[in-house]
Amino acid sequence: MKRKVNIAVLVSGGGTNLQALIDAQKSGIIHSGEIRLVVSNNPNAYALQRAKNANIKTAAIEKKKLSQSEFEKELLSVLSENEIDLIILAGFMCILTESFIEHYRDRIINVHPSLIPSFCGKGFYGLRVHEAALSYGVKVTGATVHFVNEIPDGGKIIMQKAVYIEEGDTPETLQKRVMENAEWIILPEAAEKVCEEIGEEI
Ligand code: GAR
Repeated sequence: MKRKVNIAVLVSGGGTNLQALIDAQKSGIIHSGEIRLVVSNNPNAYALQRAKNANIKTAAIEKKKLSQSEFEKELLSVLSENEIDLIILAGFMCILTESFIEHYRDRIINVHPSLIPSFCGKGFYGLRVHEAALSYGVKVTGATVHFVNEIPDGGKIIMQKAVYIEEGDTPETLQKRVMENAEWIILPEAAEKVCEEIGEEI
């Protein structure tokens, strides 16, 4: 019998995408995997509280106290202790190096708040992405879920959803619309799709 894929969600802040994943698990949209662990590089992230409220195990690994390799070593050890098969980056604001990614090749996915290849890569995260879209003057933006490789936001695309810019949009109003109309929908759907595929292999 196929077992459920063990998922870890990596977060840094408010965790609304984590909430969307938790809700999708409750409603059955995600049924081929189960969120076993939530890890934050920031011990004060509200996302950790969301995980606790849902009775999901948490870990905080404070990045600023560690070198990159120490951080990744601790992360790898907590992931392997919990027998994690799939890592979901949901508002995780740290870069992971190739040596880390190698351990989870094609087993790490990320949500990015634009239509990749626009407004992505180094320096494009959070509100900055929406500031860049508005200042360029695009009429359509959106969100992308993709596999993570050594190129920032450069891995294979799994799902995308478009969102129209509206008259008078600010980075904040646009961020909210992209989250509600794109990220919170495609992240759970893409997670289920990848879990279904991985489920055949584990
Ligand atoms: C989300 O919009 C996510 O796509 C973005 O940060 C926000 C986190 O919000 N991630 C990136 O920009 C990564 N490059 P959340 O903590 O409420 O999910």
